[in-house]
Amino acid sequence: MPAPESTLLQSWHHNAQPWIEAIRSGSIESRQQVTNQAILLAALSRQPERVLDLGCGEGWLLRTLAERGIEAVGVDGDATLVEAARAAGSAQVQVASYEALVEAEVDIGSGYDLICANFALLHQDIIPLLTAMNALLAPGGALVIQTLHPWSAAAGVYQDGWREETFAGFKGQWQPMPWYFRTLSSWLNALDMAGFRLASLQEPQHPQSPVPQSLLLVAEPRG
Ligand SMILES: C[S@@+](CC[C@H](N)C(=O)[O-])C[C@H]1O[C@@H](n2cnc3c(N)ncnc32)[C@H](O)[C@@H]1O
Repeated sequence: MPAPESTLLQSWHHNAQPWIEAIRSGSIESRQQVTNQAILLAALSRQPERVLDLGCGEGWLLRTLAERGIEAVGVDGDATLVEAARAAGSAQVQVASYEALVEAEVDIGSGYDLICANFALLHQDIIPLLTAMNALLAPGGALVIQTLHPWSAAAGVYQDGWREETFAGFKGQWQPMPWYFRTLSSWLNALDMAGFRLASLQEPQHPQSPVPQSLLLVAEPRG
């Protein structure tokens, strides 16, 4: 059986087109109502000049940052999504898997004031990738991670482990995606092991929802 890690990126090759449609039609309510604005505000509050969007997908955050005069560079492991980001106006976007970034097989530049990972850290062993990202930050730079809220996503089992997203409720033909659930302490340990210290933690929430829509972590290199 293939490792969940390879099936994960494979699922994005399959799901790229329906994902582009879902994002661009604004059909994911939690994004429209809460999480897009949450990561944007977290990014803007650091007043970055140069941002790397790690796992940028079809590039909505790149475009949103560029509209505000910020240099936005993207990287993603799926060529269709990268092509869609380029076609929509983001010139600085490259195809590279996280594995290739860890092995430094691809040069995605450095000296970033901010590295954003918006719902893009879905694999198990994120520490080598976070360590590699740490090295790409400019002095005073930071990492912003937005992810599924561990408490909201736990579904009764609060334990690190592989889960499956079936995209039920999404329109179109989707291939199920394995993703690695991690508890809050597991997120914080991973940041620590990658040489970061937590600068802030937010739980973006819609006023009419009883649960947070995401977990947002801002981390800075420990120096
Ligand atoms: C849920 S999407 C989020 C996309 C974008 N950040 C956004 O907010 O719309 C997850 C992204 O992570 C990328 N990704 C997942 N695993 C990857 C890997 N191993 N290497 C590179 N990219 C990966 C996928 O291609 C996909 O674009």
